[in-house]
Amino acid sequence: MTQRTRPFSPKNAGDRFLGFLGCAGSIFLPRVGSDPSGTLECIRGVLSSCGCDGGLGLGLAGQGPFKSVLDGDVFCYYADGEWKTSSSGKSLAVLNPSNGKTQYKVTACTRDEVNKAFQSAKKAQKEWAKVPLCKRAEYLYKAAAILKAHKTPIAECLVREVAKPAKDSVTEVVRSADLIVYTAEEGIRILSQGNFLVSDSFPGNDRNKLCFTSKVPLGVVLCIPPFNYPVNLSVSKLGPALIAGNAVVLKPPTQGAVSAIHMMHCFHLAGFPKGLLSCVTIKVSELGDYLTTHPMVNCISFTGGCETGISISRKANMVPLQMELGGKDAFIVLDDADLEAAATNVIKGGFAFSGQRCTAVKVVLAQESIADTLVSKINAKVGKLTVGPPEQDCDIVPVVSDASANFIEGLVSDAKQKGAKLCQDWKRQGNLIWPILVDKVKPEMRIAWEEPFGPIIPVIRIKTQEEGIKHCNASRYGLQGCVFTQSLDRAMQVSDAMETGTVQINAAPARGPDHFPFQGVRDSGIGSQGITNSINMMVKIKTTVMNLPSNSYTMA
Ligand code: G3H
Repeated sequence: MTQRTRPFSPKNAGDRFLGFLGCAGSIFLPRVGSDPSGTLECIRGVLSSCGCDGGLGLGLAGQGPFKSVLDGDVFCYYADGEWKTSSSGKSLAVLNPSNGKTQYKVTACTRDEVNKAFQSAKKAQKEWAKVPLCKRAEYLYKAAAILKAHKTPIAECLVREVAKPAKDSVTEVVRSADLIVYTAEEGIRILSQGNFLVSDSFPGNDRNKLCFTSKVPLGVVLCIPPFNYPVNLSVSKLGPALIAGNAVVLKPPTQGAVSAIHMMHCFHLAGFPKGLLSCVTIKVSELGDYLTTHPMVNCISFTGGCETGISISRKANMVPLQMELGGKDAFIVLDDADLEAAATNVIKGGFAFSGQRCTAVKVVLAQESIADTLVSKINAKVGKLTVGPPEQDCDIVPVVSDASANFIEGLVSDAKQKGAKLCQDWKRQGNLIWPILVDKVKPEMRIAWEEPFGPIIPVIRIKTQEEGIKHCNASRYGLQGCVFTQSLDRAMQVSDAMETGTVQINAAPARGPDHFPFQGVRDSGIGSQGITNSINMMVKIKTTVMNLPSNSYTMA
């Protein structure tokens, strides 16, 4: 089987867009073909001209309205309403996954700078909590509009620093703006309601106590998003925190930091009070523990690797945690399933962004009687995937780092040695790994249990639906799972038995729409996300009891 492969260097379409460099941030976009806003073509054009600004080839990053986020060739950190360069004099390299070269540099904050960000946040939060709810929402609407208007330069950063396909990069920014708007609206609805109780419903009490409960902010929320959604998984934390009256300290992933910095600048342009928001880029091996155990942290919302999440949770000292960690999302295909639909969903759910999604399909569990047909349908579709650079919207793009590519290679070679069947040839060029379906996987193979975070999907053949559920529930992970069947009864049996945060029926696992509750069990996480749940997670209940000298029946 051969995949269609696009040349692994952007074609030169840059010249006619060079002038666009000067209009970074403008909402003017040329109109091209089926890309009505012209955003994609703009990004491709600018990316093709990589190097025209010399040195790092910063493209649209740090240009136009984003000028203040850049100092020389180093992107700044944000504190006290200003973009600053760290006194450390040190920077962290952000590598372009497509070529392994330094794409951007971000400043490496010192301990003192991180501490000051928390102090400012603490102070600003006290005032922010008193800002009327509808005003807080107005700031968020404004930030969302600015973010959407600047989707082009931000999407370009995503393409360059995490190798997200251009079209998906634009979608991430637009989805994030929509998420902010929905969060503001939902906040207005749910934070304006409390509870009222009377005392005489509990034995031994008269009606002389009136109890009001309300939702008050936690304080300072530390937000730590992952590399695969540096914008969307930042705003899914920031938005709920802010509408609920909290301050935010954002620690972006180093790969993805520049996209997050631009996103944060949109909040800056929206005029949020000084100190309420900060964005600190740090060397995690030096300051990670300092950041997560800082005494001014009142809540941690983390999305990322399992081991990091578990380590943070062990050290968190009575701090509320919201964590989305890894997944090994099982894709169960029963013998009565629509196999064409199942195959399409394996491709979409397993190979989008080269499998670098915690909700990606990570193991297919197919009933023996239909497994051959399913595998051949999937293989036919794997053959049609395009492989190459993110600038050209290839389906399969380079994975984020060498370490990640090496890990994936290790899983495939272990499976091969232990007798699995590779349906496609193993092929790797730098961090670019061609998609592979690994058939006839057995439980003794690492790939049966470990999360590749790459374009590799194992298939395990099962005799019964119970065997599939048993495999799914034996995993350390429990994020999502899905079942393909035409029987409502069997679908509900699997849903009942599958121990995961979400079960999808006849569709691949996925987080969105962003207001749906989203959570993992076991090592996949703590707490529930989704807009409503995140807002509720970032407040605490406050009770006020009015003690009356005599019984009152006015309020019942
Ligand atoms: O990678 C983790 C994300 O939460 C997955 O989100 O299902 O929208 O790709 P997604």
